[in-house]
Amino acid sequence: MRPEYVERKQTNCEKWDGMERLFSSNDLLPLWVADMDFKVPEAITKALHEYVEMGAYGYYKVPDSYYEAFIAWEKRHHGFTVEREWLRFSPGVVSGFNWGVQMLTRPGDSILIQQPVYYPFARAIENNERHLVSADLVNHNGHYQVDLEAFEETIIKEDVKLFILCSPHNPVGRVWTEAELKGMIALCRKHKVYVLADEIHQDLVMSPHHHTSAFLAENYQEGMILLTAPSKTFNLAAGQNSIIIIKDEELRARWDKFVLSIAIGSGNAFGYIAAEAGYREGDEWLQGVKEQIQENYNYLKDELSRHLPKAVLAPLEGTYLAWLDLGAYLEGKNVTEVMEEQCKLAVDYGNWFAPVGYENFIRLNLATSLDNIKVATASLCERV
Ligand SMILES: Cc1ncc(COP(=O)(O)O)c(C=O)c1O
Repeated sequence: MRPEYVERKQTNCEKWDGMERLFSSNDLLPLWVADMDFKVPEAITKALHEYVEMGAYGYYKVPDSYYEAFIAWEKRHHGFTVEREWLRFSPGVVSGFNWGVQMLTRPGDSILIQQPVYYPFARAIENNERHLVSADLVNHNGHYQVDLEAFEETIIKEDVKLFILCSPHNPVGRVWTEAELKGMIALCRKHKVYVLADEIHQDLVMSPHHHTSAFLAENYQEGMILLTAPSKTFNLAAGQNSIIIIKDEELRARWDKFVLSIAIGSGNAFGYIAAEAGYREGDEWLQGVKEQIQENYNYLKDELSRHLPKAVLAPLEGTYLAWLDLGAYLEGKNVTEVMEEQCKLAVDYGNWFAPVGYENFIRLNLATSLDNIKVATASLCERV
């Protein structure tokens, strides 16, 4: 069953009501912020209702059933056996990797990322006064790959201390194969580089692709921390509840000590309750969401191939984000002007994800109605 579309305008929604922060107007069709315009699984709404009806919102004791629901989900969807004691909390994956940067490195240390990549990675490095190093992904006509030789050379040359992995990769839509992950992580292990593996998009993987947990690809437990969340999977970003997975006892002790120093040990009840219900009963709903995303992507792809044949749309292996190279049409033009003034779209711009080379790329959020995707596609095809 397909998910139900929600009209979110004027609901204090960042995506629909917060455009003026970054764009020229609040009256654009928003395909930027990575959340969904879909109502969450019914089980989540029901669980939240029950708690709201109960009426007292004092300190919450996170129940074992929350951890059990997540552990069962990981096993069911990813064949990943997680143990209860490996699990920790952070309010968001972005907070989690910022904490990881602070905990595992010192000011001035080199931290490796693979641009183009989710821009808060670069911010986490720069805001914490570390040194940003990128082993850029290699673009083969829209299909992105890792150059392992360059990856290792960069580690050695820059004396890299930490690698932040995006798996699946936002914005290029790659779901790394087990071999690719093994290649990257084994090199980190060889050179004693810590790994923060951001797997927030792990559940949004399109058939026939298959997400492999970084731990399953290479059991680098002494040096690797995984970060995931129910927020992308079930549209729960407002729940502020993310999950940190640390297998190694010593590394966990370091994490716990760090968290004591910032005194953010656990989240809010609403986030936990929603997440538990999603992990317990959200399977069928997620399947419907993925079908909708695939249909939206296919529509965009077909229309582009007819009307803008030189546009290069990256294959959507995972995430609900379409990465589109409009270089053949936008070269020499003012991209923000074309998108905002002519197409009336709020999109993520390519140069947010890398300092150079992606000025004529845009990222479109496909987790909305097919009708919205039709409107956006028509404006792109007519006005770019
Ligand atoms: C790769 C990646 N990590 C993290 C996040 C956001 O995480 P959070 O909202 O839990 O901080 C996003 C959201 O788009 C993302 O794409």
